[in-house]
Amino acid sequence: MLDLKDLLSPITIKNTQIPNRAVMPPMGTALGQRGEVSEALLAYMRRQAAGGVGLLISEITAVHPTGVVTPAQLGAWDDKFIPGLKKLSDAMHSGGGRAAMQLHHAGRESYYLLKKGLAMGPSAAPSLVYGQAPKEMTPDQIQEIIESFGTAAARARQAGFDAVEIHGAHGYLLTQFMSAISNHRTDAYGGAFADRARFVVEVVQCVRKHVGDDFPVLLRLSAEEFIKGGYTVEDVLTVMPALKAAGVDVLHASVGTHGSPGGITSAPPEYPTGFNVWRAEKIKAATGLPVIAVGRFNDPRAANEIIARGEADFVAFGRQQLCDPDYLKKAQAGRYEDIRLCIACNQGCIEREMYEGKSVRCAINPETGQELIYPRSPAPVPKKVWIVGAGPAGLIAAFEAKRLGHQVTLFEKEPLAGGNIRYACKAPHKEIYGDWIDWLIRQVEKAGVTIRTGTPVTDRMLADDQPEAVILAVGGEKIVPPIEGLASPLVYDAWQILGETIPPGKNALVVGGGLIGMETACFLSARGASVTLIEQLPSSPVLKATSHGYSLHKYLREKGCLLRFGCTLKKIDAGGVTLLSADREEKLSGFDQIVIAVGMKPRSDMKEMLKQKNICHTIVGDALKVRRIMEATEEGAKAAWDL
Ligand SMILES: Cc1cc2nc3c(=O)[nH]c(=O)nc-3n(C[C@H](O)[C@H](O)[C@H](O)COP(=O)(O)OP(=O)(O)OC[C@H]3O[C@@H](n4cnc5c(N)ncnc54)[C@H](O)[C@@H]3O)c2cc1C
Ligand SMILES: Cc1cc2nc3c(=O)[nH]c(=O)nc-3n(C[C@H](O)[C@H](O)[C@H](O)COP(=O)(O)O)c2cc1C
Repeated sequence: MLDLKDLLSPITIKNTQIPNRAVMPPMGTALGQRGEVSEALLAYMRRQAAGGVGLLISEITAVHPTGVVTPAQLGAWDDKFIPGLKKLSDAMHSGGGRAAMQLHHAGRESYYLLKKGLAMGPSAAPSLVYGQAPKEMTPDQIQEIIESFGTAAARARQAGFDAVEIHGAHGYLLTQFMSAISNHRTDAYGGAFADRARFVVEVVQCVRKHVGDDFPVLLRLSAEEFIKGGYTVEDVLTVMPALKAAGVDVLHASVGTHGSPGGITSAPPEYPTGFNVWRAEKIKAATGLPVIAVGRFNDPRAANEIIARGEADFVAFGRQQLCDPDYLKKAQAGRYEDIRLCIACNQGCIEREMYEGKSVRCAINPETGQELIYPRSPAPVPKKVWIVGAGPAGLIAAFEAKRLGHQVTLFEKEPLAGGNIRYACKAPHKEIYGDWIDWLIRQVEKAGVTIRTGTPVTDRMLADDQPEAVILAVGGEKIVPPIEGLASPLVYDAWQILGETIPPGKNALVVGGGLIGMETACFLSARGASVTLIEQLPSSPVLKATSHGYSLHKYLREKGCLLRFGCTLKKIDAGGVTLLSADREEKLSGFDQIVIAVGMKPRSDMKEMLKQKNICHTIVGDALKVRRIMEATEEGAKAAWDL
């Protein structure tokens, strides 16, 4: 395609020709097993490679047992790993792209080793993520780890990789040496920035020594630590000549660490596409090195422009790759409307791995991470299937059931399909969720499913029509709390406010500090309302550790919203509201809106009847248990696969 000619043009690094400039950056999958690759990982990787990106970089691969993040991480510290790594490089080559292996040592950022007292770092400064301190590395250990990067790189070459990438980013061991926050050493590896970077320079030198002059060596750095007191891109520029001289061929300019607030490394939707390109561009301009730009790319046209303007030589598409491995092929065919765009929710990928200890998925692409069970051929016996409810669970179920050859009818009681995503897209920066659900609806229709909107399914309809199978995806319904005075004309629910059937007030009390309450408070604040939010729990149920949670808290803080925890609404009357906190009653007045957002419970509709009439059915998504998009799409897809 003409409009992608720069992105699709080949480039040669050392003697290795890379067929195009689209890069799959390293992404941990937790699909490995005790350092070894698994069939699930190979299947995942073959699927990723089939998309045709020019360069695929493996997930973090530990160079030494003291640097392992989780037992699921791949290893390269011993020759015994070479056969497995060879299978991995074969899988990565299977789509025609080149393969690099990422060399990694976690340092103090391994909870797994911190817990056992086995983690090491430049100094005994506690991890900003886990709060626990590693052991300070001895000079001998420093030399041993430097050497282990070199020997692991040599194994990568033996295992058929075309390049290696040294992981110097995101707060792992190399960043820990570079950062004044984690490196308090007084020997040659501590002190001024250039001294703190000595470890990185020596790792590069050692890797170069082990792989030879003709082998491409990439270095990934957090070009800026993005943390108070952390180093900046200007600091990095001062050591780039030394890194280049040590043997770096390509600089991969990431940003932030796991300790940076708000998850900027895998940035949430408020960061626009390409927000981090300027750092790569600066390094390229100063050093002349080819650079990889990364950060929130999901449209190949935007990537093409970056390359055409000479700001970077490669563009990495991380979460977009997980969300739709075929994005490049679709773009090449001019099928932009079919690309499933990443919504940067982080729910199925990075946060699922970090906070739930589970393997990689994508909240809106049920194939990712499930390649071994994802059915590719039509169902042997097509069935007449009714899917009730066109929220994410029902829509995905309909798409998958149709893809597998079933005869599908999808019902939605509301005039518009989309379920709760119609409300979930209303908080600031969440418009992209609405774009996704509109895309999904178009894909379902394009696949040939008619969505019968404005058609509530009833027990009677089911009994009359007797479909062979039913997927019940009717979602949840709001909980109405037993509060005195709830009939007051000032009282609304979150859906009325977010659905804009009621205009925002000037002085609102939001009751409930879960996700829906927080988002309603953001929505009202964004429209100029003064908002007080109360939550009965002693602290916020929306964790700041997630990128979305962090954004919500930050937004409300900046808007001056008053958040009160351990506080319940007892009564509403003509004089105002009575709140109860720490056994003390307090009367407040002046609110012109009281918005109830105390949560949802699964709808019970049709469940009894389906059981009684013995109709084959599966209950999915919020209709089963009120949760998130991730569970809704996963269960919707699985129900269709299992028909
Ligand atoms: C304000 C808000 C913000 C949210 N933010 C997030 C977020 O950031 N991340 C996240 O993961 N989750 C979020 N959620 C939760 C997420 O929206 C739900 O978990 C998800 O929509 C559940 O999908 P579902 O398909 O199971 O149910 P729903 O989305 O509720 O869809 C069910 C559908 O069934 C229809 N239906 C019901 N009864 C019938 C019937 N008898 N006949 C026909 N149709 C029927 C309903 O009208 C509805 O369209 C948010 C929810 C809200 C309300
Ligand atoms: C699930 C997941 C795992 C990741 N694992 C790694 C990793 O192993 N090594 C690494 O350098 N970066 C890792 N990252 C960061 C990505 O490589 C990438 O820099 C980041 O997601 C930003 O790119 P994007 O906005 O295109 O997703 C990971 C990101 C995700 C989403």
